[in-house]
Amino acid sequence: MTIDPEGTRPKNPAASARGAELASDFTVSLHYDRRLYREDIRASVAHARMLSRQGIIGEDESSQIIDGLEKVRVEIESGSFTWKPELEDIHMNVESRLFELVGDVAGRLHTARSRNDQVSTDTRLYMRQASLDTVIALRNLQTAVVAVAEANIATVMPGYTHLQRAQPVLLAHHLLAYFEMFERDAIRFEAARASADVLTLGNGAMAGVPYPIDRDFVARELGFSGVTANSMDGVSDRDFAIEYLSSAAICAMHLSRMAEEFVIWSSEEFRFLSLPDNYTTGSSIMPQKRNPDFAELARGKTGRVYGHLFAMLTTLKGLPLTYNRDLQEDKEGLFDTVDTLLATLDVTAGMLHGARFNSDRMRDAAESSYVLATDIADYLVGKGMPFREAHIIVSNLSDRLISERRFFKDLSVDEFRTASPLFDADVLDIGVDSSIASRDVPGGTAPGRVKSAIAAAQKSLRAHVMEAGR
Ligand code: ARG
Repeated sequence: MTIDPEGTRPKNPAASARGAELASDFTVSLHYDRRLYREDIRASVAHARMLSRQGIIGEDESSQIIDGLEKVRVEIESGSFTWKPELEDIHMNVESRLFELVGDVAGRLHTARSRNDQVSTDTRLYMRQASLDTVIALRNLQTAVVAVAEANIATVMPGYTHLQRAQPVLLAHHLLAYFEMFERDAIRFEAARASADVLTLGNGAMAGVPYPIDRDFVARELGFSGVTANSMDGVSDRDFAIEYLSSAAICAMHLSRMAEEFVIWSSEEFRFLSLPDNYTTGSSIMPQKRNPDFAELARGKTGRVYGHLFAMLTTLKGLPLTYNRDLQEDKEGLFDTVDTLLATLDVTAGMLHGARFNSDRMRDAAESSYVLATDIADYLVGKGMPFREAHIIVSNLSDRLISERRFFKDLSVDEFRTASPLFDADVLDIGVDSSIASRDVPGGTAPGRVKSAIAAAQKSLRAHVMEAGR
């Protein structure tokens, strides 16, 4: 049996003449859109219910269709469903099987509907959930960030600019920078979710449908917050997908930066952390090595996420309204992005939980360096010297120390005084810990500020958990 729900001739007469098994693979999307089966069936059930409520089809017709759709779902989930690529996509596969199961009444399901509004509705349902899953994975990662920050609250390290040791900070402060990035990411994915959360069924092929449908009922059944205002926009809009992809690109960039720090910090040169064994691999040739492959892949996968964003933008840029088959190209990269991002978020959380920070080594890196130079300049400012002048004096002093392979902590008061008479004995009190403690401003690295930031982060995460539970 063949079905042609669009009521048109076969789109590819040559292929159908040669037989279904020879149909061109070129148009087939089944291998990736079959993951929409649940959404497709759910939307069809809501549509069938609405059609009978509105008297467009009979009540027992609607029940037969809905029972049949449930059977299709069970078949798919039990693995007994026979997929037919020659039917091209998930929608035609489900509908064709429905015909086999319930007979010709199946033909009534596609009343007041087109594959154009159908595929959009399915994809929106899918992306609504995917966006939520992404937010949950981000919250999970944020929880790991905060836990690791709290567990290492006493660890000091050099903060970097230009990858040069710059000023001492708490490791927790450094980690919490990522908390903020993931917070912004979560807000973006919430917005992508809101974009997807609009019903397109009822737009028909593109002009609306000539039946007394009830779109609000379908929206309620499917949990959509509203219905599209313009049918032509509805069937051709993929902003919700682009918003997910662009949010994913930004999030992947954040994850990549964190991964890069894991790679650098776990190197023999840094030795700031050791990654958990289950997130590293041995080298096939060099027995001594533990390679940070998971972190590298988290960094590397960013490229394909960026690529999918650009592919989608490019596919859409020249499309005249309304539906064009090009739009079928929206799904493969989108699904790959969801899979890639969710996996990377999980791996990053796991890696962070298992990482062991070498706090002695980190403190030593801060102390055996010139990260106190700013504090010493600020000391002179405190004694009345203009900052620019203090900068020159301390710059000369550190040049001298570097050439003598010594550090500020090795200087006596007298040696300080040769650089400037404003130095007193209390200059010897300047150290990594006092430097950190002095950054006692909102957003600064002083221990009190970082502890408050941890408490605020924990509170906000708890609120999100409660919100999700509601
Ligand atoms: N597989 C198609 C897609 O993903 C479904 C819509 C097809 N509509 C059409 N008029 N050919 O876009």
